Amino acid sequence: MAKAANKSTAKKSAKKPAKKPVKKVASRAKYYFTVKDSVKVVQDRSGPKADKRVKYLVDTLVKHLHAFIKEARPTMDEWMYGINFLTRTGHLSNDWRQEFILLSDTLGVSMLVETLNNHKMSGETESTVLGPFHVANVPHYPNGANICLDGKGEPVWVKGRVLNAKGKPIPGATLDVWQANEDGFYDVQQKGVQPENNLRGIFTSDEQGRYFFRSAYPRFYPIPYDGTVGDMLKALDRNPNRPAHLHFIVSAPGYESVVTHIFTPDCPWLKDDAVFGVKESLIADFKKVDDEKRAASLGMPNPFREVEWDVILSKAK
Ligand code: BEZ
Ligand code: FE
Repeated sequence: MAKAANKSTAKKSAKKPAKKPVKKVASRAKYYFTVKDSVKVVQDRSGPKADKRVKYLVDTLVKHLHAFIKEARPTMDEWMYGINFLTRTGHLSNDWRQEFILLSDTLGVSMLVETLNNHKMSGETESTVLGPFHVANVPHYPNGANICLDGKGEPVWVKGRVLNAKGKPIPGATLDVWQANEDGFYDVQQKGVQPENNLRGIFTSDEQGRYFFRSAYPRFYPIPYDGTVGDMLKALDRNPNRPAHLHFIVSAPGYESVVTHIFTPDCPWLKDDAVFGVKESLIADFKKVDDEKRAASLGMPNPFREVEWDVILSKAK
C-alpha cells in the first residue's frame, strides 16, 4: 500500500516539478571607481560571505585612508616613498626587532589601543605600553633579591603590595619586572656586554600581598632609531628618548593582568616620551634615603633610593 501511494505521489510530482527555492544572493556591487564615491566603491566589493567584524574594520580603515589621501593629496613620489617606507619597516622586523610595533608606538597608536581597551574605573593601576624588551622565562627570585647584576647605577629599594580594588592584599601575585641599565640599554641590546638577565626577574607577593627587591635607579634611553622609525623621528625633529622607568607585568589568578611601568619623577623627558607611555598616575616617588641603620637592615649600601608602589588589580571579567 505504502509503496503504491509513493509511486502515485512520484508520478504527480514528475508532472509538476516542485518550485526551486530562490536562493537569495546579496549581489556583490560592481561599478566603476570615482573619486567622489571611492569609499563606497571599495566597501561594496565585499561579498555575502564576508566576516562581519573584518568587514567593519576594513571598511572603517578604507573610509579614513581615503579621507587622508583626499585631504593630504600626496604626490606619486610621496606615495611611493610611503610604500618603500613600509617595505623597509617590514624588512627590519624579525624575532628581535619589531619596527612595525615601534611605528605604532611612535604614532601614538599603541597607547590609544591599549588605553581604550584597559580603561580603569575604580582606581586600579593604569597600564601602558609593553615595549619590545620583555623576555619570557627569566629567573624567579625570592623577595629582597638584587636584580642589578652589573652593579651600576644608584641602588634602589623597590617595595609595595598587590591589592584588589577594595584594598585587600593579593598573596601569590606574580610581578615580572625589567628595566634598562645605567647606560640606557637593556641586557638584550648588549649581549656579551651586560650579564644575562641583568635588571630583570620575577617576584611573588607574600601572604600580606607584599613584594620587595633591589634594583638600580632607572635612566632614560632612546628607542632604537637607526631604522625607518628613526628616519621619521628625525624628519619630524622629534625626540627619540623614553623617560626613565621600571617595567612591571603583574598577574594573579582571578584578576586582570596589568602591563605597566613606574616613572622616576625627575626625568626631563616625562612630558616628551617618544612613545607617549606616561600617565600621571604612574609617576612614582623615588625617595633619597641617608640612614645607615635602615640601609644595614635592608642589606643596602647607604645612601640609597626607596620607592613604594602598590599595584591594584581589577577582577577578571
Ligand atoms: C620600552 O619601554 O622598553 C619601549 C617601549 C616602546 C618602544 C620602545 C621601547
Ligand atoms: Fe622600557
